[in-house]
Amino acid sequence: MTKILMVCLGNICRSPLAEGILKSKVDTERIYVDSAGTAGYHEGDLPDPRSIRVAEQNGINIKNQRSRKLTIADLENFDFIYAMDKSNFTNILALAETNEQKEKVKLLLAEADLGVLEVPDPYYGGDKGFDYVYGLIDDACNHIVKNLTDAGK
Ligand code: 4NP
Repeated sequence: MTKILMVCLGNICRSPLAEGILKSKVDTERIYVDSAGTAGYHEGDLPDPRSIRVAEQNGINIKNQRSRKLTIADLENFDFIYAMDKSNFTNILALAETNEQKEKVKLLLAEADLGVLEVPDPYYGGDKGFDYVYGLIDDACNHIVKNLTDAGK
């Protein structure tokens, strides 16, 4: 089983979308996908209604998800840890205790070729921000799926 963790700040806007989108593209019997936030502000909360909406518009249900905070154990348990932005990336690395753990952490958009490296935080913006974020994450997930397939996973 390959285990992939999507990480943002609050685990209510971006990483729940990343979890839902990647799950929709892989065999979940073989690829385990989860998400977490570097901060615990929204622990136990549903995804943001705007993320739920854009996911639903694309045929993906993320309403079963609840926000949780990233733990040190996650760095050990997961094979690939994708940060939505550079701040998340730095905060995840700060928890890592070994080089092996550090090497698991990547910027999600480094997997794609979009000319941008960060999925911007859409929390304080309007609905358009969520549509934009959806497109970025969807593209990166297509690349992840291709890489997994090429690696025989
Ligand atoms: P996320 O967005 O990191 O994509 O889940 C945010 C959600 C909540 C907050 C910030 C970003 N907040 O400050 O509460």
